Amino acid sequence: MIGVFLLAYLLGSVPFGLVITRLLGLGDIRQIGSGNIGATNVLRTGNKPAALATLLLDSGKGAIAVLIARALYGEPYDQLAGLGAFLGHLFPVWLGFRGGKGVATYLGTMLALCWPAGLAACATWAVMAALFRISSLSALVAAAAAPVYLYLFGLPQAVWLGIVLAVLVWVRHAPNIRRLLAGTEPRIGAKSGKAD
Ligand code: G3P
Repeated sequence: MIGVFLLAYLLGSVPFGLVITRLLGLGDIRQIGSGNIGATNVLRTGNKPAALATLLLDSGKGAIAVLIARALYGEPYDQLAGLGAFLGHLFPVWLGFRGGKGVATYLGTMLALCWPAGLAACATWAVMAALFRISSLSALVAAAAAPVYLYLFGLPQAVWLGIVLAVLVWVRHAPNIRRLLAGTEPRIGAKSGKAD
């Protein structure tokens, strides 16, 4: 059991945003915009393919951890793997345990655990983003809704995981929440964005 968790943690701890921006010579993403290693901040470099790759790889590592654990060991190891990958992204050993905010990895984990719930969470993010053009607000709403979707769409046994991950997403967004309340949170794609 601990082995599944640790392997998933290691997979989740790969900081794709940092790796991709470094490989492309875009600088240290931790010194740009919000300082976050996620796709939203990578987009602030102006390189859309890099942001898309970060989004896909950060969500993919959560999904792959869940799918491999399920194929090898079934439930509830897949949930444990999702937790491990998510914590790996938030607290990567390679970066002194200072990682990202977990939104993409959360959505990837949800998609693999229960695709209707994951799809609903992604749709929630997309609708909020279309309406308000603020990534953090979209993430906060999608994360809060995901446990409800898990319950409604057939995986009530994973609601605990959805809640734990959603709480961590919210905690990690504390600086964003402060900026949202102050009305200073940047819109998606804006080059600025205060460092956390
Ligand atoms: O996915 C992270 C997003 O919700 C906020 O990112 O860079 O604006 O803090 P950022």
